[in-house]
Amino acid sequence: MNLVIKSDYESLSLAAAQAIIELSKQKKEVNICLPTGTTPKGMYKALVDLHQAGQADFSFINWFTLDEYLGIPLSSPFSCYQQITELFYEPTGINKDRIFTFNSEAKDLDAEAARYNAIIEHMGGLDLAIVGIGMNGHVGFNEPGSSANAPTRVIDLHERTLVQSKKYFTDDHPIPTKGITLGMKTLLQSKEVFVVANGEEKADIVKFAIHGPVSDDVPVSHFQTHAGATFLLDTLAASKLK
Ligand code: F6R
Repeated sequence: MNLVIKSDYESLSLAAAQAIIELSKQKKEVNICLPTGTTPKGMYKALVDLHQAGQADFSFINWFTLDEYLGIPLSSPFSCYQQITELFYEPTGINKDRIFTFNSEAKDLDAEAARYNAIIEHMGGLDLAIVGIGMNGHVGFNEPGSSANAPTRVIDLHERTLVQSKKYFTDDHPIPTKGITLGMKTLLQSKEVFVVANGEEKADIVKFAIHGPVSDDVPVSHFQTHAGATFLLDTLAASKLK
């Protein structure tokens, strides 16, 4: 596990974007999984800016959504897929053939989780996973209790995640109670992982993630065991580290 601390959100976002740009320079096919939420918004902006400045060629990258809400259509502006589309795929004109996402409207969602994971395996696994940290230490929707072997699956969202999710939905929109997520197993098999967190509100969970024991109670702590994992923090999120 590696640790990189940046002075502010902007430089943190640029560093996350650079991890993607570096891979794109290899000009060979790579597989990257992308999160939603508040944390990666600056990264998407940096990627769009670099693309508009002609400094990024994404044509060799296959993109995978990290997780998705269940019970809302994929076309909803609140779906993870639509959020990434709006913030990144659309402004950069990413080829649709390169975009992979959960069909969260599938009749058999367990089969859908297996199908999606099999695509990643068939394509050689993830080269880079960019993930955020939930207030309860979740990764994607690998909620507390998720082991390092947790498969890609349907999951009931944790109480704390439901509270955290209020900020993503308008007052009149019900908060989904279920999700579908890449499992810890697939994420831990990614060659590189960037675990990104910013802001003071993440300082406690970041401390547990890095200094606490590796524990299923704090799924993000499993990345302590991953040589290719980098915790990418701003000074506020890192403020409680030793
Ligand atoms: C989003 C996701 C979540 C978030 C995490 C942090 O696709 O998988 O695990 O990354 O909850 O959310 P923010 O960035 O909003 O603090």
